[in-house]
Amino acid sequence: MLDNLALYAHFPWCVKKCPYCDFNSHPMPEKVDWRGYVDALLIDWNSQNEALQNEALKEKSSKPETHRFGITIASIFLGGGTPSLFEAPHFSHLLQSIPLAYNAEITMEANPGTTEHTNFSTYHAVGINRLSLGAQSFSDASLAKLGRIHSADETTIAFENARNGGFDNINIDLMWGLPQQTVDDALNDIRRAISLQPEHISWYQLTIEAKTEFAVRTPLLPKEQTLADIEKYGLELLGDAGYGRYEVSAFAKPGKACRHNINYWQFGDYVGIGAGAHGKLMNSAGQIWRYAKPHQPRVYLKNSQVTKNTLVDSQQLAVEFMMNALRLLDGVSFDQFTHTTGLAWKEIETTWLSLVEQGLVRADRCATTPTGLRYLDSVVGKFIN
Ligand SMILES: C[S@@+](CC[C@H](N)C(=O)[O-])C[C@H]1O[C@@H](n2cnc3c(N)ncnc32)[C@H](O)[C@@H]1O
Ligand code: SF4
Repeated sequence: MLDNLALYAHFPWCVKKCPYCDFNSHPMPEKVDWRGYVDALLIDWNSQNEALQNEALKEKSSKPETHRFGITIASIFLGGGTPSLFEAPHFSHLLQSIPLAYNAEITMEANPGTTEHTNFSTYHAVGINRLSLGAQSFSDASLAKLGRIHSADETTIAFENARNGGFDNINIDLMWGLPQQTVDDALNDIRRAISLQPEHISWYQLTIEAKTEFAVRTPLLPKEQTLADIEKYGLELLGDAGYGRYEVSAFAKPGKACRHNINYWQFGDYVGIGAGAHGKLMNSAGQIWRYAKPHQPRVYLKNSQVTKNTLVDSQQLAVEFMMNALRLLDGVSFDQFTHTTGLAWKEIETTWLSLVEQGLVRADRCATTPTGLRYLDSVVGKFIN
């Protein structure tokens, strides 16, 4: 499973920490050794690449009929934190060492508060071909409540600069269910996003994550009925504007779904580099390993080769697979289950058939029905042993 891998690279610093965010993001210290961090990423990548090459050799000797050899990277996600704090030559340095597949998708996350004067063409010139812009909302009042460092106008300027800089594949991240948000507020956010005509919109419901500032001082959130209305009318708006919903929170113009994220949802393998990054790989013996890199940037900078590995046991595999695959509106084929978990479909067939009878999943494919999607957590829960 080593060709067409996905690679996630984490950039852990932000101008400031947002009160709702539980990603591995850290307020930027006064002095950052940008080049030092990229060098640590390269050391991390090179050591993982060497191990992957060894696995590829074993795979080749156990399956001599395979023609392919070595690894290629089909998509890269430069995520954060705030990767857009790094300048383009740093990415160039990193990308030059990665064996890219033809037409690889390379996404960078950008915070509009760091890009007002950015010349996006420099990012485009080093090979980044997809941009994910963290708009969150187009209401300045909501942005202030979210502790964001930018205004709605700055997001619009960043978007236009990105277009003028050559980006023809742009995602806008929006959140809904924001503090004191009304249905009209949420729909206006979607309308403003649509008016920019991005290729992709991610529309996440705000969740209150443990250990965040919002968990300690939870703001006043919209009531259940308001949330239900936002969801109903928001989905209609996005659909009417030509954004097809292909995953719970992901909407795209035709052909513009995010290939990198689809790989996660299809339970594909991926390599993770950077502070707090995670990876998941099936080895030549068919075992599935997850691993994590040290969270703290300063620990990672000292030794970026340290990795904590965990073998995923077969009990966990089915539920982890369903947790991902059933988020896709079209799900995956039944074969994909065996292909990515190494388990036989018959191991979960009884559970599946009882869900089919309840009208929650499809009989012809590993996918939910519209009703099942609404009760996704409980559907996935049925696969916990
Ligand atoms: C890894 S974050 C990074 C984006 C970038 N740093 C920014 O904020 O502009 C990716 C996206 O996750 C979403 N997100 C973060 N925390 C969330 C939360 N608690 N609930 C829902 N969505 C969240 C936001 O839309 C955010 O843009
Ligand atoms: S800018 Fe993005 S990654 Fe950083 S703290 Fe805010 S939401 Fe999290």
